[in-house]
Amino acid sequence: MRICAPSRFTSFPFFFILFSFFIQNVCLAKPMNVIDKCWRQDTNWRNHRQRLARCSVGFAGKMTNNIGKGTIRYIVTDPGDDPLSPQPGTLRYGTLIEGKTWITFRKNMKIKLQKVLLISSYTTLDGRGVDVHIEGNACLVIYKASNVIIHGIQIHHCKAQGPGLVMGPRGMIMPLGPMDGDAIGVVNASKVWIDHNTLYSCDDGLLDVTGGSKNVTISNNWFKNQEGVMLLGHDDSYLRDQQMKVTIVLNRFRPNCNQRMPRVRYGYAHVVNNLYQGWKQYAIGGSMHPIIKSESNDFIAPQSGNKKVVIH
Ligand SMILES: *[C@@H]1O[C@H](CO)[C@@H](O)[C@H](O)[C@H]1NC(C)=O
Ligand SMILES: *[C@@H]1O[C@H](CO)[C@@H](O)[C@H](O)[C@H]1NC(C)=O
Repeated sequence: MRICAPSRFTSFPFFFILFSFFIQNVCLAKPMNVIDKCWRQDTNWRNHRQRLARCSVGFAGKMTNNIGKGTIRYIVTDPGDDPLSPQPGTLRYGTLIEGKTWITFRKNMKIKLQKVLLISSYTTLDGRGVDVHIEGNACLVIYKASNVIIHGIQIHHCKAQGPGLVMGPRGMIMPLGPMDGDAIGVVNASKVWIDHNTLYSCDDGLLDVTGGSKNVTISNNWFKNQEGVMLLGHDDSYLRDQQMKVTIVLNRFRPNCNQRMPRVRYGYAHVVNNLYQGWKQYAIGGSMHPIIKSESNDFIAPQSGNKKVVIH
């Protein structure tokens, strides 16, 4: 038999080098950050979903209050929405369940909210493994709640709306004021982790942390196509926001984000390891003596104009 390749090519060391080179490249192509590594390396993560709660970093701390004994597993099967009388199987029904609730989604779905969706304490939205879109009126609000995880959801085209009634925690019908149309509002809430979501194209902003909220981590999200992206503190007279602590880590801001990535009033924002590709007015800004620690961010300035300026 004739061997076409020179014999040295078939030798063991050559293949070994080739093989390790290949493995190295595959690994280099998909580096995982510290948050993802914590759950994603487990090929069987679907059966260990609650491990995610231990993967958070920053001011939210570890989300271990969301898991363990008594955690209710709720599966969203119905993309429908009824704000006053939520039906079992819908997302709104799940987010109002009291106590530790771990919410997953049976299949890919598009949920069109009729009114703002209130998320109660100890709730996790886990969109891993499916493609879940939430859009519609006002979108998600974490109001006076703590221990909330929102992971792996696409939230977009959230519309402003006038005042109205929605069912809140404990089945109470709550009158709500007008909503600006943000993808996620964190209002007077604490211990909130927003990870791996894709947020874009809403009426007002994508993510607001206001009303004296504390201990929030915003990580691994993709923010795009938005005028004003993220507001931490909305009112100069709201001194309670001095207590606000927000970690903004490993997010992507691109393309077409104009300003507020974030814009901070009072409070402390640790802004670390984010990617900014282009901005129009500014990327990071603040007023009312905020503390902003900007560390290891990657700023790719737009080509036009004088955009590479740091003003203290
Ligand atoms: C925010 O929550 C804290 C503690 O839950 C409460 O004391 C405070 O009054 C709330 N602030 C507003 C404006 O609702
Ligand atoms: C915020 O986090 C700090 C440090 O972990 C903790 O001491 C404090 O109680 C937390 N506050 C709230 C309201 O969760």
